[in-house]
Amino acid sequence: MEIIVQPDSQQASWLAARLVRKLILEKPRPVLGLATGNTPLQLYKYLVKMHREEGLDFSQVITFNLDEYIGLSPDHPASFHNFMWTNLFNQINIRPENVHIPDGLAPDIPACCEKYEQQIKAAGGIDLQILGLGTNGHIGFNEPSSSLSSRTRLKTLTDQTRKNYAVFFGGEENVPFHAITMGIGTILEARTCLLMAFGKKKARAIALAVEGPITASVPASALQLHPRAIILLDREAASELKNLDYYRWVFEHKPEWQKI
Ligand code: GLP
Repeated sequence: MEIIVQPDSQQASWLAARLVRKLILEKPRPVLGLATGNTPLQLYKYLVKMHREEGLDFSQVITFNLDEYIGLSPDHPASFHNFMWTNLFNQINIRPENVHIPDGLAPDIPACCEKYEQQIKAAGGIDLQILGLGTNGHIGFNEPSSSLSSRTRLKTLTDQTRKNYAVFFGGEENVPFHAITMGIGTILEARTCLLMAFGKKKARAIALAVEGPITASVPASALQLHPRAIILLDREAASELKNLDYYRWVFEHKPEWQKI
């Protein structure tokens, strides 16, 4: 794992945006795995800025989102469909047919999940998967106890996750109980994983995921198995890491060819 600590979330997001831009400029049909939540918002703002100001071209980019609530229509204000179109897709020149988000209204959930997996394969696999982190260590909606080799499927949200999201639904009673999420096995097949986490409330989960044992109880710890996982943090999210000095040292002494 490469652990990168930046002074704040803005600078960390700028670095993430540069990684995405590099992929788009270098690869003819780049495949991005995308996340929702507060964490990637600034990254998406920078990508929109790069599109507007430098003409960064998204016309060949293919995207797959991590997850979606079950039972929400795409135009529901709290749906991840709505989040993605509002915060990114409507503001760049992506082709709607290149956008993939699990269908929360699918009549046959297992078939919909299987199709999602096949679509990822047909696109050649995910080049760069953006990930946020739940305060309980989840990635996507892979809650603690998720199999580390799980595939796209239905998951039941924890009470904690539903509480965290109550604000977007006007009360906890309106938060769905279920979601479709890429599995941990699906995520680990991405060629690069970029986990972003900001703020003090993520510090404990980051310490467990990065320096704790690999365990289904902390789904993000599965990234320790990934050959190219980048963990991008602000100072607060990094504050409970024991080997922080070493991670800083590594970043400062990267060989020229490895620099982002
Ligand atoms: C949700 C999403 C995750 C996201 C996480 C963190 O559970 N399914 O993909 O990473 O929340 O959200 P935030 O970035 O708002 O802290």
